[in-house]
Amino acid sequence: MTSVVELHEVSRVYAGPPEVRALEASSVTIDEGDFVTIVGPSGSGKSTLLNILGLLDKPTSGTYSLRGSDVTLLSENERARVRGTDIGFVFQSFHLLEQRTCLENVMLSDLYNGTSERESRERANHALHAVGLGEYDQRLPTELSGGQQQRVAIARALASDPAVLLCDEPTGNLDSATAAAILALFDELNASGRTVVLITHDAEVASHGNRTLHMLDGTLSETS
Ligand SMILES: Nc1ncnc2c1ncn2[C@@H]1O[C@H](COP(=O)(O)OP(=O)(O)OP(=O)(O)O)[C@@H](O)[C@H]1O
Ligand SMILES: [Mg+2]
Repeated sequence: MTSVVELHEVSRVYAGPPEVRALEASSVTIDEGDFVTIVGPSGSGKSTLLNILGLLDKPTSGTYSLRGSDVTLLSENERARVRGTDIGFVFQSFHLLEQRTCLENVMLSDLYNGTSERESRERANHALHAVGLGEYDQRLPTELSGGQQQRVAIARALASDPAVLLCDEPTGNLDSATAAAILALFDELNASGRTVVLITHDAEVASHGNRTLHMLDGTLSETS
């Protein structure tokens, strides 16, 4: 099994004041094809962990290796490059630009990774098809339902064919039927090999993972 993510004794302390030990020294390995769900109370450190995994934030101590290379000490530019090629993010809010078409929104993921416009367009069309919105390329996000908007956001995350899809409460803004459809999409993406890490408050959602990590006061544990 190839590991995608290896965290070794990674911690995150927000300097404050007051100082917050948001993530105590934690080690975890995520393998290719894993669907890891992360649960825990509000403020327990879930987003802190996900932000470190996504290179949006740096650990205070410990080492992080992504696809076998150490990314702990990369410069800001290098981190941005790795984010653009290896990481796909999906958040609770869709963060779509209202004045841009769905296709343009998905293409925005390639803005900083040197992809030609033509290839970017192809990748974006492919990703829209993968989330079931192949016919929606020229629509504006404001003309879509919440579930469809989240699909566009997922397409944007998938367009660069990332090593891992990082999702922070991706169904948090959706009604239960729409949430179920989005979860089915994550199941489908994972079944075709995509590595997924997903934060949720909902035990039923968490059960979609083949592994569940629990956060409590910054301490990570795993039940199997
Ligand atoms: N930028 C920051 N500066 C200082 N403290 C922070 C910062 N971001 C988060 N924290 C604190 O770190 C702790 C963990 O926050 P985090 O956002 O990781 O929690 P969470 O588990 O994602 O919570 P929620 O379920 O509410 O999203 C909290 O005590 C929070 O107040
Ligand atoms: Mg959070």
